[in-house]
This record gives sequence, C-alpha cells and structure tokens, in this order.
Amino acid sequence: MEDKTPIDRLAVDGGTPVRCTPWPPRHLFGEEEKAAALALFEESLATGEAFGYNGREEDAYCQEFADFMGGGYADAVNSGTAAMYVALRALDLEPFTEVIIPPVTDNGGVMPVPLMNCIPICADSRPDSYNVGPEQIEARITDRTSAIVVAHISGHVVDMDPIMEIARARNIPVLEDCAQAHGATYKGRLAGTIGDIAAFSTMFGKHHATGGQGGVVYTRREDLYWRARQASDRGKPFGVPGATSNVLCSLNLNLNDLSAAIGRPQLKKLPSIVEACRRVAQDVNNACAGLRAVRMDTGLPDSQGAYWFVVFALDWNLLKGDVALFTNALQAEGIPCIAPYTRPFVQEDWYKNRAVFGRSGYPWTSPLYKGDADAVYPLPNIEGVHNRQFMIKIHEKISSQDIADIARALAKVESAFLRP
Ligand SMILES: Cc1ncc(COP(=O)(O)O)c(C=O)c1O
Repeated sequence: MEDKTPIDRLAVDGGTPVRCTPWPPRHLFGEEEKAAALALFEESLATGEAFGYNGREEDAYCQEFADFMGGGYADAVNSGTAAMYVALRALDLEPFTEVIIPPVTDNGGVMPVPLMNCIPICADSRPDSYNVGPEQIEARITDRTSAIVVAHISGHVVDMDPIMEIARARNIPVLEDCAQAHGATYKGRLAGTIGDIAAFSTMFGKHHATGGQGGVVYTRREDLYWRARQASDRGKPFGVPGATSNVLCSLNLNLNDLSAAIGRPQLKKLPSIVEACRRVAQDVNNACAGLRAVRMDTGLPDSQGAYWFVVFALDWNLLKGDVALFTNALQAEGIPCIAPYTRPFVQEDWYKNRAVFGRSGYPWTSPLYKGDADAVYPLPNIEGVHNRQFMIKIHEKISSQDIADIARALAKVESAFLRP
C-alpha cells in the first residue's frame, strides 16, 4: 500500500478519509410536535387539570394509528418491549409452553416470553437474511408451541404467507414484531396486518416516535384488542361490560397523552419518512451497482422494505479479510456502519444463566415444562449472515452527497480488499 496516494490509501492505513463530516442529524421532531406538546401544557395551565393517559390525545393517536394500518385496533403502550409483552398476554398463552423467536432481534423482542413463564425457542434465519423463514420455524414447532414471533428486521419483511400457512394449519397464533418496519409492505399488505397481532416500538430512533419511548399493540381482532387493553393497564375490565373488578393480573404499561400528542404529527409524517428511506436505499443501491463484491439486500420480491438500516453482503470468494476488518476500514473512511447488528439472544448472559426469576432457573427448570430445557439449537444460517453482512444506518435526511460518500467509501475499501 506504500505506493498509493493519500487519497487512495485506506484511512485505517493513514490515508485521507472519504468523509470527515459527521453523519447528518435526523431532525425527527419539529415545530408540529413542539406545538402539540405546548398545546397540552396551555390547556393544563388554563384549566388547572393535569394531562394524563387514556385521554383525548391517546385515543386520537390510537385511532389514527389504526387508520394508518387500514383499520383494526391499536393500543398505545410505553415501549416496544411493553408492546411485545402486552401482545403475548393478549394471546393468553399457557405457562411453560414454547414460543418460537427469531435468532436476531432486540432483547425487548424476547424477554417478555420468559417473563410470562413461557420458553423462548430460537429459530434460525433464512440463508443470507436476518429474518426467519418458514422452514426454520417449522423445524422448531413441537406440540408445546403456543405462539410464533416473527420480526421484520431492518425493515425488510418476513415471508409471511408460508409462515401463516404453517401456523394456521396448527392453530398457532403469530405475533409480528414491527419495531423496525413501520410502513413496510408484503405483497401489498402492511407489516403488522398479516399475523394475529403486532407490536411496534415508537422510541425516538424508529420511523415515527411518541417522544423518547413508546410502543403500539395493533390487531384486527377485537377480542385480542380488549385483552391487550386489559394487559396494558393492570387488568382493568376494558371490553367486559358490567365487570366490577379488574379481570387480569398485569402491569401498568400505558402510554400517556403527552407522548401520544407528539406521536400524532409524527404519524402524519410517517408515510413521507418511509418513502424517503426507500428512496435513499434505492439511491444507495444504484450508486453501488458497480461494486463487484459488495451487494445491498433489497428484500423479498413483491415487498417494500421500510429500511431502518441498509444491509450489505460481502462476497468472500472475491474479497480477503473478514467483516470486522472491512467495517473498521469503512468506519475509518467516515461511514458509520455496524456488524453484527446484534448477537443471537441465546448468546446473552441472561439467557445462558436463566436469569429471570431469582436463582430458580424458571421457567426452564419447572417440572411443568415438558421440553428439553438444555436443548441447543444450531443457527448455521445466522452465523453465515454474521460472517458476510454489515449494515449502514440510514434515515430520511440522508442526502445525495451522503449517498455518494457511501458509494465512494465502499468502492475504495472494496478495491483494497479484493483478492489479486
Ligand atoms: C425488533 C425489535 N423488537 C423490540 C424492540 C424493543 O423496543 P423498545 O426499545 O421500544 O422497548 C426493538 C427496539 O429496538 C426492536 O428493534
């Protein structure tokens, strides 16, 4: 590399980086959100009444969320993790049954399962994808399976039709984790409308947000909606006319009117945010079309991703090194990238140590669990993904200059890593 000019020499080797300017901020919250929050304060000051939860703003946000989804019911809760918990509670799963979980997801997409005394069973991903596929799910189904969770990771939708076929044939409910996939579509249907129930995270890093944290449980089934409402608010008898007591033991996981007020203008912006993320992803893909050994994942045919980040695969037949070396070099060129996105949950200490309920090892150690508590589930596909893939975080404010920098940095690093 000594004979290269500073501009050609990799920045990790002391060359000039492609980009020295920071990644652009998102400016997610604007005057609309500020005005919505201020209006609540003004009202509170004028009336002397504190704003709370389950009020006008939260009702309106839930209705508008359901409208965005094309009908159905939405319950706003205080995080995506809470949304997962509430959705699972709405499904009324028996303890010590098994819930199939995708290998790579946020911990918040798994932890609610053992907290309900159910056993999370890790399915592998499809080859070359973070997402689970029908065969990988089918391989984990037993007569103890009470639910299937799928997560549309990075905003690319899971291949839902064959999964729903498998689930319907066995009468197993499907929960879609849409935390990263607001507005993504599969064969013309919005992610979250295909399974029995769906959970969304609306924390500040997601496509749309209800302030700093938040989440939504969405379903088209009225019975599940009322159970979700009960499960998110200490079992209050929502949907049980005439009930005089709370009907379910649960937590208080409600959202609140201030967060919902911020979420309403956010929801109005959501279609344009998703559209812009798609445009950015498409432009990145076009700008990288000339690369020989780096390919962007464009998702399933007949689907439109929401592109929470863009995923690239490296061709080790043409390249030397490994993902860590490649992404270090790309980072040094000024392009923020991540690899791996996250490790499989079965490698987390809390899972390995069964650290859920004191030192009991529950739910795995319960005599009521009839499966193999020590079973190890091989994950060859996700290992392959981790050896080949990395991601670049994008958002709606990424400019054509940022995209050109991504392409230039990828070309520069690729050329340094190409085998002779
Ligand atoms: C796939 C997935 N599921 C669940 C969650 C949990 O959401 P929250 O952080 O809002 O609790 C996240 C958050 O990043 C996620 O990406």
